[in-house]
Amino acid sequence: MQFPQALETVLETLERMRNEGARQPCASRTALEALKEASAAPRPVMEGAAPSAPKLMGHDSACPSKDQNADKLAAINERVSACVKCPNLASSRTQTVFGVGNPDADVMFVGEAPGADEDAQGEPFVGRAGQLLTKIIKAMGFARDEVYIANILKCRPDTPGSAYGNRPPTPSEMQTCRPYLMEQIDIIQPKVIVALGATAVEGLLGNRAPMHQLRGRWNSFNGTPLMVTYHPAYLLRNQAPSEKRKVWEDMMQVLEHLEKPISEKQRNYFL
Ligand code: URA
Repeated sequence: MQFPQALETVLETLERMRNEGARQPCASRTALEALKEASAAPRPVMEGAAPSAPKLMGHDSACPSKDQNADKLAAINERVSACVKCPNLASSRTQTVFGVGNPDADVMFVGEAPGADEDAQGEPFVGRAGQLLTKIIKAMGFARDEVYIANILKCRPDTPGSAYGNRPPTPSEMQTCRPYLMEQIDIIQPKVIVALGATAVEGLLGNRAPMHQLRGRWNSFNGTPLMVTYHPAYLLRNQAPSEKRKVWEDMMQVLEHLEKPISEKQRNYFL
């Protein structure tokens, strides 16, 4: 195929994807126009020189939704990092832990609250439970930075009198912090939310029930499909292969919902 024909095919495909609402790869209207011009213009042939292609991706306006979402999230993060609504948490935290990942993610994982490692590093799910979550994400066929990861609480719950240990967030802390998470979800508009553990379910849906009843089921969070699964910390405490398999089956439901192909290897996978 000649270059102009190839370019035309690329253009048509991008236009169709854009019209169908696909988010990836992203090509702005301006980039598509530039491509059209390039395919129409006569191309001088210079020996040894590679043809210069119009810029499709990058941090200009090529991917406006991603750039805009990143800016919007950064603005909320600024407010979060100065938040003192829970004075006990504001004075005990090393830093707030906002969230990490793709501002345009299809899948958003929501956990409970930062632990000691997250409080120290300023990033959710970086400790042992976080490493297991990253393994789950990769087994699903995503890179960690392709999804978005956040918590119900942006501060580590304080444990007065003890430098160690964790405690679950109180209902009042969850109520206070919830609006920040709502804003994050509103901006990212994921196709699926995964609630990790009972506290995430309570914070998002207001439900309290045993996890064995909640997990593996689809819920709706303001119209966004929400899958409940066990928190990875539970899997670290309970090493039974059957429990890990349950989480994996929940994640396969997520992949199916996203219409992501599931390989035979993935179907037979045990975490
Ligand atoms: N557990 C959570 O719920 N969130 C984290 O960020 C880390 C551990």
